[in-house]
Amino acid sequence: MHSHEAGALHAELGHPAPAWLRTPDDVNALLPQLWPATVRRGPDGAVMVGGRSVNDLAAEYGTPAYLFDEADFRARCRAFRDAFAGADVYYAGKAFLCRAVVRMVAEEGLGLDVCTAGELATALAAGMPPERLGLHGNNKSAEELARALDAGVGRIVLDSFDEIGRLTALARERRVRPPVMVRVTVGVEAHTHEYIATAHEDQKFGFSLAGGAARAAVDRVLGEGVLELRGLHSHIGSQIFDTSAFELSARRVLGLAAQVRDAYGVHLPELDLGGGFGMAYTTQDDPASPGDLAKSLFHIVQTECSIVDLPVPQLSVEPGRAVVGPAVLTLYEVGTVKDVDGIRTYVSVDGGMSDNIRTALYAASYSATCASRASTAPPILARVVGKHCEAGDIVVRDEFLPADIRPGDLLAVPGTGAYCRSMASNYNHVPRPPVVAVRDGQARVLVRRETEADLMALDAG
Ligand code: LLP
Repeated sequence: MHSHEAGALHAELGHPAPAWLRTPDDVNALLPQLWPATVRRGPDGAVMVGGRSVNDLAAEYGTPAYLFDEADFRARCRAFRDAFAGADVYYAGKAFLCRAVVRMVAEEGLGLDVCTAGELATALAAGMPPERLGLHGNNKSAEELARALDAGVGRIVLDSFDEIGRLTALARERRVRPPVMVRVTVGVEAHTHEYIATAHEDQKFGFSLAGGAARAAVDRVLGEGVLELRGLHSHIGSQIFDTSAFELSARRVLGLAAQVRDAYGVHLPELDLGGGFGMAYTTQDDPASPGDLAKSLFHIVQTECSIVDLPVPQLSVEPGRAVVGPAVLTLYEVGTVKDVDGIRTYVSVDGGMSDNIRTALYAASYSATCASRASTAPPILARVVGKHCEAGDIVVRDEFLPADIRPGDLLAVPGTGAYCRSMASNYNHVPRPPVVAVRDGQARVLVRRETEADLMALDAG
């Protein structure tokens, strides 16, 4: 079917599909920008990842399962590391973390950001050198801060006056001088979903620049002289495509660095511009390559530094989603297909909002394909939903799937590496899926599937 016919199909169905969603010429096509690098269809039409057919992987590991393309993940780590040569790249572990990923990140030469004791424990258990760790969070407990100090974490990103007090006391007790950064809220409106934008003024993260809190935080850290202020930090949000937001935040943060130089004669040697680089979930998303991002960010920082006459600081960035998001697909099995007359076809899979909350929480868009076989049937517009007792349990809002999609088919949803397993829940007592890495024809479990015994283990009754 050609794209001019898509409008007619939508009209005939009498329900809104997003205007950008084009009827595919080939319902079996895998658009390379949406899939992990090793994904292709095998000779029998089934999707292959890392050299393994999803049919074999489903038979061996069950569904749903997150299939982690290890070569793709490592290549993205290297792409960021090489593009930002001379700067530091910290992988944001909140996107997805387990011990194997910590080791991959370490091997590929990245640092690692953690934001809780649990993430810190995982990083340390996997042998990440502590000096390559950063600790974030708007409400770090005294216990978390103490653990970070005792481990020798490379830097702690300060987020509140309470935390400055807490960390200063702990550092005094231990007679240590931990490296810190001050997280600045720069007041930039990043064009992204409200819940994942983090630099407008009205929110919980950081010290406000406009309100003077950021300067006051710097004054307090320098005044007490206990913590070693390495620099300023800003993270403006997530799934951002437009580098002009980073330009504005760099300008504002460097403006504060210049004030600090003027007031104290102190040059802050580091600058962190955070993460938030966008990835492609659908054909609507057109992310910059790490190379282009690095070029823009280096240029922005150099330009802004020359305007305020500051030496260029050591830059760091903290990508999470852009590194792990595209490296993973979720494999589901179709359980029911319901044609709701004249409205749409609902394809129910054996997971849902417990393994991917992003569609429900952020109105995120995903795509999907029938993965167990190629089909010659014409496309139909479908909605992929989960098995949870909630009408909003949607995995993929709108997608063209073959008209003969049926129970027992496997369905693959790409782009689920970031904030899917890490935000997974046990809603409706559904055990969380495993993460299975596939590389060069070999599969291995990174995180095993939860069992009913795991669910019962916390039940004290
Ligand atoms: N640095 C800091 C300080 C952050 O708070 C975050 C994300 C990152 C880096 C990494 O951002 P990324 O490159 O992954 O966009 N659950 C939401 C995203 C929350 C992001 C939280 N902070 C989602 O699923 O879209």
